[in-house]
Amino acid sequence: MVINSLEKFRPKLHYAPQKNWMNDPNGLVYFEGEYHLFYQYNPYDSKWGPMHWGHAVSRDLISWEELDIALHPDDNGTIFSGSAVVDWHNTTGFFPDEPGLVAIFTHHLDKEDGNPPVQTQSLAYSYDHGRTWTKYDQNPVLKDESKIDFRDPKVFWHKEFSQWIMALATGQSISFYSSPNLIDWTFKSEFGNGIGSHDGVWECPDLFRLKSDDTGEEKWVLIVSIGDDPDRLMGSRTQYFIGSFDGGSFAPDHKSIKWLDFGKDNYAGVSFSDIPEEDGRRIYIGWMSNWRYANQVPTEGWRSQMTLPRELSLQKKGDNWQLVQLPVQELNSYFAKATQIPAGEVDGRSYYSVDESQAELTLTIEQKDAVNYGIILHHRDNQSTTITIHSAEKVLVLDRKHSGVTDFSKMFGDIQKIDLDNSSTLQLRLIVDTSSLELFIDNGAYALTSLIYPDQSCEGISVFSTEGNINVKDGVISTLSKQI
Ligand code: FRU
Repeated sequence: MVINSLEKFRPKLHYAPQKNWMNDPNGLVYFEGEYHLFYQYNPYDSKWGPMHWGHAVSRDLISWEELDIALHPDDNGTIFSGSAVVDWHNTTGFFPDEPGLVAIFTHHLDKEDGNPPVQTQSLAYSYDHGRTWTKYDQNPVLKDESKIDFRDPKVFWHKEFSQWIMALATGQSISFYSSPNLIDWTFKSEFGNGIGSHDGVWECPDLFRLKSDDTGEEKWVLIVSIGDDPDRLMGSRTQYFIGSFDGGSFAPDHKSIKWLDFGKDNYAGVSFSDIPEEDGRRIYIGWMSNWRYANQVPTEGWRSQMTLPRELSLQKKGDNWQLVQLPVQELNSYFAKATQIPAGEVDGRSYYSVDESQAELTLTIEQKDAVNYGIILHHRDNQSTTITIHSAEKVLVLDRKHSGVTDFSKMFGDIQKIDLDNSSTLQLRLIVDTSSLELFIDNGAYALTSLIYPDQSCEGISVFSTEGNINVKDGVISTLSKQI
């Protein structure tokens, strides 16, 4: 079958728009049985341009239906990133009859007089589950013309304080505001001076609490994306902080920089609002691309896809808290076991044929006396992506130099790596789609998200060791069990 070139790299398990350009996920919210994914969207081209909010809905976070554009530019500007909430108690006055959705987003206004653009925060509300929207007639609701970068509001209801809290990206900091009604906002505090990575502009914050399953302790997590800077090896990237939030200011527990993902292709991610308490999960989606090359990736007619939705949780290692992430459990019903990788020692290489564009590998490997070991994901025509664990250095390296089309960006083919705590026994989970792979190590303690552009993504998988043995403890390759 000749694959239409427009569709060659189209994912099945990951959301991508039918046509044209997409970047950040926006307004992630659950309401009456539907997960809403809004996103930065340019309906005129497959490159970044005048931003709208595109819209898709899903009932299981894996199969998405694309709907009409939700928000269009207006006199206040184009529609940059932001969030959405359910106004359960009509704090806004927009919902006298029954609760509905409010979007809180940045208006970005380019100036023709040579002055810098102006960014302000605005509202829109919907009475029909996000299908149509009305912009608030007093927009914008928050402005500060002293700040050029003033965007990406992420809003949540703070139960104990009975207030809405907004985290807003303000240049090299995150500013917090509070409001009783989403309309009148009061500045509370600014976070970021002297802490974290400042290699690029701070964007797309998210602030939420998580409870440790192990100890029952509660911590606040602040996620901050950092824009691309040409001097930085990894391009745009996302960091996070763990600490406490007293309703007005955030205090981190640590000085060190914590990266959300060790791959190059997970940016601007945020979590869902209003997931019911009985469910209780904190679910996150990132934009699976990198500003360094997002406008050049070799897809035609459409560009960009989202990461798989991931459940976030907390883990304590020694005295340090860290985020753990795994794809949502809804993914499991899309895969069925295809090949059992037999337990036993490997000295050299064992190959397993797959011949699919979607696959999942779970594998536990004990190092034994191998110097290096790992996995080769074989694509078609000698293209491959290699994951190597260098035992002595305790480092995992993912090499996509030979994965297919890579020449659209100088740094796309450079290695991606994880510094591991332990390299003697590793539990790996790898999810392969048409043009991406997502690697989770040790039940999600480390994640590495990486685009690839091969002719076919998974012809086979090899497990290998060099200069010694490994012990494969447990391994399964699964393929799609139902059509999406
Ligand atoms: C992050 C970002 C946001 C902005 C949006 C514009 O990727 O730069 O800060 O709101 O993209 O599309």
